[in-house]
Amino acid sequence: MQPTETLRNDHAVLRGKLMLLEGLLPLGRAAYFPLRDVAYSLTRRLRCHIEKEERLLLLMQQGAFPHPLAPVSALLDEHRDQRVTVALLLELVINGSTSSIDQIVLCASHLIDSLRGHMAREEAEIFPFVEQTMTRNQKMAAMQDMRAIAARYYPEGEPAPWPSDIDEHLVNEWSSPRHVVCAN
Ligand SMILES: [Fe+2]
Ligand SMILES: [Fe+2]
Repeated sequence: MQPTETLRNDHAVLRGKLMLLEGLLPLGRAAYFPLRDVAYSLTRRLRCHIEKEERLLLLMQQGAFPHPLAPVSALLDEHRDQRVTVALLLELVINGSTSSIDQIVLCASHLIDSLRGHMAREEAEIFPFVEQTMTRNQKMAAMQDMRAIAARYYPEGEPAPWPSDIDEHLVNEWSSPRHVVCAN
């Protein structure tokens, strides 16, 4: 498997979580508990993904690849913003009733929009470049590093691509007519 394949799989999982998060926002206060679960699983998955990706970007910056650095440094800035935003979102939903739903919506909406744009740019500009220029040995080394990073975040084993059990449960639970009625 290519390192970029691993990252593309992560993107698919992250997009699923963003979709779930987006679907919960209109439910407002009624969705505090599932919001908390989604924010937690999104935080862990996103941090793990960023770390894997930055390992790859570091290889590029170490001179192995003659890629212009400007897009890479912009991505690193965006990663910093994502880390801060997802931490803030988690804090807001953990505070539960004391947090304003407006703040949660604002923070989550920023994360959803910026992360979607960011992933699309990586897939269009960075991944194809990596796929074309990395040698087989470099790809194997990157894969080894990524597996070690994933094992730190998920000692129990990295979850299957979305929907995971918990997300599937949430989708079923919160898309039922009972909850639509409650949300209204
Ligand atoms: Fe990224
Ligand atoms: Fe990414």
